[in-house]
Amino acid sequence: MQQKLNSLKLDVLEKIKSLKTESEVIDYRNAIVGKNGSLTEILKWIKDLSVEEKQTIGKLSNDIKVAILEAFEMRLKEIKKIEVEAKLANEFFDVTTPASSDTKIHLHPITAVLRQVEDTFKRMGFDIFESNEVTTEFFNFDSLNIPATHPARDMQDTFWLEWMGNVLATQTSSMQNIIMKSQKLPIKALIPGRVFRNEDIDATHENTFYQVEWMVIDKNISLANLKYTIKTMLSDLFGKEVEIRLRPGYFPFVEPGVEVDFSCTFCDGKSPCRVCKWSSWIEFMWAGLIHPNVLTNAWIDPEIYSGFAFGFGLNRLAMIKYNIPDIRYFQHPNLSFLKQF
Ligand code: DAH
Repeated sequence: MQQKLNSLKLDVLEKIKSLKTESEVIDYRNAIVGKNGSLTEILKWIKDLSVEEKQTIGKLSNDIKVAILEAFEMRLKEIKKIEVEAKLANEFFDVTTPASSDTKIHLHPITAVLRQVEDTFKRMGFDIFESNEVTTEFFNFDSLNIPATHPARDMQDTFWLEWMGNVLATQTSSMQNIIMKSQKLPIKALIPGRVFRNEDIDATHENTFYQVEWMVIDKNISLANLKYTIKTMLSDLFGKEVEIRLRPGYFPFVEPGVEVDFSCTFCDGKSPCRVCKWSSWIEFMWAGLIHPNVLTNAWIDPEIYSGFAFGFGLNRLAMIKYNIPDIRYFQHPNLSFLKQF
């Protein structure tokens, strides 16, 4: 019996070495240790052996089974390795090959709207600054006239980082102090960027979205200048003249603060429409004349200079322009959505 087992072991181990493919290994493994495999059959007799024989033969046959199973595993690994190496040697993927002519290249809707907005502002002589995604509590709040005790800190659910009072920027306004300190006056800055808020996600709320901010600091700046820039941007974007409506709004970093609506570009106020919620005005941005404290925090004398600042959600603007019903689409890797643009 022992001899039989030992010679079976040698034969099997020898044969395993000669197997060439994964399926050959699997078939042979079944033939040896499968339900009716030759080793399985031998092991079935063990129960009829005497107690002493069981001890020696039982142990031996178990060791042989383990050794054989290991050899099968090793051979499978070797075959896989050989296959991968052969593939690498034979397949050549040329990343410099031009895309085939029927591949349509298109921009993400957020990028498409942003490019148009940037074009308008470049023509008006603005410089573009990308907003920092990680910033400090000082730039995101204190410099904007929002001290730690201010209830406005609760208006935005912030992602706090663990070190050095850093946060994920909740607003592109967090760039105001940085730009005011680093640029020469007068300043005309457009500040697009990605911002983050610890929001519950639904069709109109995301934890990661895009804002665009712009600010102008010069002598004798008034609400009329502010109104002109927004009217120019929206008329350019929608390809027709839009009307602007200002309502009082509160933000700690502007005085006065305004909420800005524009005339619905879909129904033109004539027949009611869903986009403007049947009001003929679309509400979507905030602005104001920069608060003197914010200028002072950046060493600018509010007795000499004044400015205005604007902010809006780029996702929302893209949703209005392209009639996109759900903000979650922007971050979703759904190609049939993206291919429409
Ligand atoms: N940063 C504000 C927010 O994210 C929006 C905002 C309000 C920006 C007023 C401004 C402004 O520049 O003047 O909620």
